[in-house]
Amino acid sequence: MTPTWVQLAYLAAALCFVLALKGLSTPRYARAGNLVGAAGMALAVVVAYVHGVQHNGILIALMIVLGAAVGVPAARSVRMTAVPQMVALFNGVGGAAAALVALTEYGESTDTGVFFAVATVLTVLIGAVSFSGSVVTFLKLQEIMTTRPVLLPGGRYVGIGTAVLALALAVAVLATGSGTLLVLVALAGLALGVLFVLPVGGADVPIAISLLNAFTGLAVAASGYVLANTLLIVAGTLVGASGTILTRLMAQAMGRSLANILFGAFTPRAAAVQSDVDRTVRSGTVEDVAILLGYAHSVLVVPGYGLAVAQAQHAARELAQLLESRGIAVSYGIHPVAGRMPGHMNVLLAEADVPYEHLKELDDVNPGIGSVDVVLVVGANDVVNPGARDEPSSPIYGMPIFDVDRAKAVVFMKRSMRPGFAGVDNTLLYNAKTTMLFGDAKDSLTKLLAAVKQV
Ligand code: TAP
Repeated sequence: MTPTWVQLAYLAAALCFVLALKGLSTPRYARAGNLVGAAGMALAVVVAYVHGVQHNGILIALMIVLGAAVGVPAARSVRMTAVPQMVALFNGVGGAAAALVALTEYGESTDTGVFFAVATVLTVLIGAVSFSGSVVTFLKLQEIMTTRPVLLPGGRYVGIGTAVLALALAVAVLATGSGTLLVLVALAGLALGVLFVLPVGGADVPIAISLLNAFTGLAVAASGYVLANTLLIVAGTLVGASGTILTRLMAQAMGRSLANILFGAFTPRAAAVQSDVDRTVRSGTVEDVAILLGYAHSVLVVPGYGLAVAQAQHAARELAQLLESRGIAVSYGIHPVAGRMPGHMNVLLAEADVPYEHLKELDDVNPGIGSVDVVLVVGANDVVNPGARDEPSSPIYGMPIFDVDRAKAVVFMKRSMRPGFAGVDNTLLYNAKTTMLFGDAKDSLTKLLAAVKQV
C-alpha cells in the first residue's frame, strides 16, 4: 500500500504536469510552465527514490547524477535549430527506459495476472518502436543519413510482415509467459521502429517525432501499470495525449493527412511538373530595397528557418521599428510550420521583444495581402511557395501558405537559389515582382537598416 504522503506528493507532481502543459500552450506562460513541469518532475524523482528504491540505491543515484550531467549541458548548449533532433533523442531514451524496465520487471515480479502481462508486452513493444524510430529521426534531422524517404524494395510488405510478426510474438508471450519470446518482441519492435521512419522524408520527419513522442507516452503509461505507479500512468497519458494532439495540429498545418505523411512515400507520386515560368531572377542591392521601402505604406515580414539560422530576429525588429517610426505599418506573418519546430518564430521574435500583437497568422494576413506594399521574406521559402497552392504534383501541395505572390512587391532575403526544407523549387523566386537580396539574413538586414536611414 502506497503511504498517503507519497500519494499526495504524486498528486502534486501530476498537477504540476497539467499546469505545465497549460502554460506551454501560450508564449507568455511557456517559460513558467516549463519550470513548473520541471519542479513536478524533480518532486516525482525524489519521492520515487526515497519511497521506492529498495536495492541498488547508490547505483540508481549515480545514474540520476550521470543523466543530469549529460542532459543539462546538452539542453543548455543546443542550438535552437537543433532542438527537434534533441527532442528525438530524449524521446528515444524515454521509450528505451520504459521497455528495459518492463523487460527486467517481467522476470522479477510475482504478479501473474493477465493485465500485468499485457501491460508488460505493450511497454516492451511500443518502447522499442519509439527508441529505434527516434534514433532514425535523429540521424535524419542531424543529416547523418539522408533526409529523403528511404524506400526498401517491397518495404511496405516488409513493414506489414514485421508488424504481424511482432503481434504474433506478443500473443505467444501472453500464452507461454516466456521471457525469451519477450526479448524477441523487443527486437521486432526495434525493427518496426526503423521500418516505420525510413520512408518518412524531408519536412515530415518532425511529425514522425511528435507521433513517436505519443508512443513513448503510451509505453510509459503502460510501464506505470507494470510498476504499479500511478504517477507514471498519469504522466505517460499526458505525454501520449499531447503528442497525439500536436501530431494532428502539425499535419493540419501542412495540409496533409497523417496517413499520407507516414505512408505517402510508398505511393508513387506523379513527377513534379517543371513549371513553365520565365526563369529570370531579379537580384537587387540594399539600396534598391531601401528605396522600395521608402515608398511603402505597409510592410509584412515573413520570417522562416533562415532567420533562425542567421539569428536575425533583433535586426528584423530594429528595421521594423525604424519603418514604424516613419509611419509605415509593419506586421509579421507567422506560419504554423515556419522554422523547424512549433512556435519557432514566436520564440525568436519574443526574444527580440517584438510585440505579440504584431504577429499575424495565415487567416489574419491572406485576405488583405493584395494591399500590402512590400513583403520581406526573411529566410523563409516553403511557407510562401505558391506551388503548395497551385501545383497538385508538388510534394507540398495542400500546405496552406502566405499568398505573398499577391502582394505588390516581394523581397527575398536568402543566400542562394537553393530550395527550402522540402527540397522543392519555388517559382516565386522568378516572379517579376520579386527582388532577391542575396546574403545572410542578419547581414542583409543590418545593411538594409543603414541604407533605410539614408533614404
Ligand atoms: P525553409 O523552406 O526550410 O527555407 C529556409 C530558407 O532559409 C532556405 O531556402 C535557405 O536558403 C534560407 N537560409 C538558410 N540560412 C540562411 C541564412 N543564414 N540567411 C538567410 N537565409 C538563410 O523554411 P520555412 O519557409 O521556414 O519552412 C519550414 C519548412 O520546415 C517547411 O517545409 C515545413 O513544413 C518544415 N517543417 C517545419 C516544422 C515546424 S513545426 N516548424 C516541422 C516540420 C517540418 P539559402 O540556403 O539560399 O540561404
